[in-house]
Amino acid sequence: MEVIIQSTPEHAAHQAAVRIAQSIRRKPALVIGLATGSTPLRLYDELVRMNREEGLDLSQITTFNLDEYLGLPATHPASYRRFMQENFFGRTNINPQRTFVPDGMAADIPLHCREYEERIKAAGGIDIQVLGIGSDGHIGFNEPTSSLASRTRDKVLTEQTRRDNARFFQKPEDVPYVCLTMGIGTILDSRQCLLLAFGAHKAEAVAAAVEGPLTSMIPASALQLHADAKVYVDEAAAARLKLRDYYDYAVKHSP
Ligand code: PGA
Repeated sequence: MEVIIQSTPEHAAHQAAVRIAQSIRRKPALVIGLATGSTPLRLYDELVRMNREEGLDLSQITTFNLDEYLGLPATHPASYRRFMQENFFGRTNINPQRTFVPDGMAADIPLHCREYEERIKAAGGIDIQVLGIGSDGHIGFNEPTSSLASRTRDKVLTEQTRRDNARFFQKPEDVPYVCLTMGIGTILDSRQCLLLAFGAHKAEAVAAAVEGPLTSMIPASALQLHADAKVYVDEAAAARLKLRDYYDYAVKHSP
């Protein structure tokens, strides 16, 4: 994994946005996997700014979100479809027809999950997958002990994840117990992964994912198997990395 340490979350998000923008300029119909949560907000702000001010055309991209809560309609204030609409899609010239988020209200969940995988394939596969990391090491909603070969499916959230995400709901007990999430196998199929993590509360999960053993106990460690995974962190999230001097040195000397 390539670890890019920046002084602030703003700098790190900018670097990730520049990489995505370069890829869109090279391939306007880029297929991008997207994440929700607090982490990618600065990245979306930056892409919105580039869309409005720098002529970055998003009209041909296709997007696939990682996950959604089971049982929440798209209109629910805490649904990820609504989150994406408010924080990214609705602020750009993205074609809404080409934005895909798992449907938490699907009548037949296994069928919907299979169709989601088929849709990704039909779009040509994901070129760049944006990822956050849970404090328990999850990517998407692949909680610890998720199969490293898993595909899109339903998954029961850990109590820790439900507590972490309670801030998006009126009451902690409103957080659903079950979600739909792309699998780790789905994520590993993407051509490039960009994982973002900011803040001291992510430092342990980042160190375990990057430098710990490959284990389903830390689902993000599966990215060690990916040929092109980049990790953008701020100083606080990098604080537990043992080889941090090497990462800076590698960025400085990379061709
Ligand atoms: P956060 O969530 O960005 O809100 O910290 C990350 C995640 O759970 O993947």
